[in-house]
Amino acid sequence: VEDRIQKISSVIRVIPDFPKPGIMFQDITTLLLDTKAFKDCIDLFVERYKDKNISVVAGVEARGFIFGPPIALAIGAKFVPLRKPGKLPGEVIREEYSLEYGEDIMEMHVGAVNAGERAIIVDDLIATGGTLRAALNLLEHVGVEVVECTCLIELPELKGRDRLGDKPLFVLVSAS
Ligand code: PRP
Ligand code: MG
Repeated sequence: VEDRIQKISSVIRVIPDFPKPGIMFQDITTLLLDTKAFKDCIDLFVERYKDKNISVVAGVEARGFIFGPPIALAIGAKFVPLRKPGKLPGEVIREEYSLEYGEDIMEMHVGAVNAGERAIIVDDLIATGGTLRAALNLLEHVGVEVVECTCLIELPELKGRDRLGDKPLFVLVSAS
């Protein structure tokens, strides 16, 4: 496992000063180019969640849409997209949340999930934790039990984990 994680970490490209000065951007597109590392990454999540009776994988737009669906298929769960505002055509519930600069809104289709279902939330990265917190609020609002939030990468210095309270967070790679 450690070898696989080391390999995954090594193919995540870090681009300094993107999208603005001082930000070290964690670019997962280079991981997607490495078929072995990408498969290992999905497999590690699948091994963790396959026998946990999870019926919902909720993925956060946009990069959670890359990792969520292959995990959902492999564990026999449905995939539920959590989207930026105005993108979902049906009736939605929404959660407003604050970003480093400004505000954003996350939406989920009404009827996509049922109260009492067990879910995981998937995204590529946790920074301040605002995005995962909003996703958690959306699902908990409709009575879904979120078993765990899961990401490839955590930026521990930003203490995003604290925003999730006592909700477990699983990450493959800690980037400093
Ligand atoms: C990035 C990343 C996470 C979020 C983490 O998404 O993919 O979703 O920021 O930040 P936080 O923990 O501080 O909330 P971003 O909104 O930049 O866009 P994208 O996924 O649509 O590319
Ligand atoms: Mg994102």
